[in-house]
Amino acid sequence: MNQTQTERYARTIDASKRVRFDIDRDVIRGRNFDFTRKFLPDGLSKLERLGFLGADDRRLLGQVQGRTYANIFGLVERFIAAKVLEVSREHWFGDQSALEALVRFSDEEIKHQEMFRRIEALIAEGMPAGYRFAPDPNAVAQLVLSKSTWAVLALTCHIELFVLAHYRESIDPDGEVSPLFKDVFLFHWKEESQHAIIDELEWQRENAKLTAPQRDAAVDDLIALVGAVDGLLQAQAKDDVDYFLKVARGPYSAAQQKQLRDGVLYAYRWQYIVSGVQEPRFQKILGGMITEAQMQRIGAALAPILN
Ligand SMILES: [Fe+2]
Ligand SMILES: [Fe+2]
Repeated sequence: MNQTQTERYARTIDASKRVRFDIDRDVIRGRNFDFTRKFLPDGLSKLERLGFLGADDRRLLGQVQGRTYANIFGLVERFIAAKVLEVSREHWFGDQSALEALVRFSDEEIKHQEMFRRIEALIAEGMPAGYRFAPDPNAVAQLVLSKSTWAVLALTCHIELFVLAHYRESIDPDGEVSPLFKDVFLFHWKEESQHAIIDELEWQRENAKLTAPQRDAAVDDLIALVGAVDGLLQAQAKDDVDYFLKVARGPYSAAQQKQLRDGVLYAYRWQYIVSGVQEPRFQKILGGMITEAQMQRIGAALAPILN
């Protein structure tokens, strides 16, 4: 490992110490969610596409999406923490800054999972019964971790870059978002900023170890992982709209119900796939690793999701 890389890991340790938060003392602070406020901002919920919604139902649908948003992070952080602990093995007897950076990273993700479980419980208190978040974090982690490390680190880097973009571009600027919801993602963003740097370092390190055929197979793994994410989003979008239709004021015509289903799936694909894929930093890192033909293969696989 060269000097510059050691310094980059060391800088994430300093930043991690500086921004470290406590779930109760810093984030929740004894508060509950205010259900008169917005949870997920418009930039992420994409509710402007559903202009027929009244104010109450619009707010409700954004809150359902916000509840799922917190649950999705609780879900993906299970496999992220496991993968980071696994790759930390390669630093056990090497660069101790890298090892400490990865240990802090996984410790933070374990804390974030606890935070998102707390958020789910708080939101559940204020919403009518019947909401369902079906995917099991361990089952999803088993599937993801069955793929090559290169592909898992690519997916992780993509997720942690869109976390940063969502806060910066959508959550922070929206003045109507619930203060507690905003704080959850403010504090999360602060710790995730280091994760995105470490993801890049680890992904590059893994990439350097692969032969061309191994990398080509890893590109297929990444395509399979994005397909699995999309399958999960389709199921959750359906569950969330089913729940919304049960508890919303409505009523909605068959055509409007179809628009609701399409609109929520569009929003979820934007949130968890498209916004990350379009991040310039992600494109730059990925583009630096793979061939033009491999990039086109990824583009072809993404085309049905992007449209
Ligand atoms: Fe996190
Ligand atoms: Fe993270």
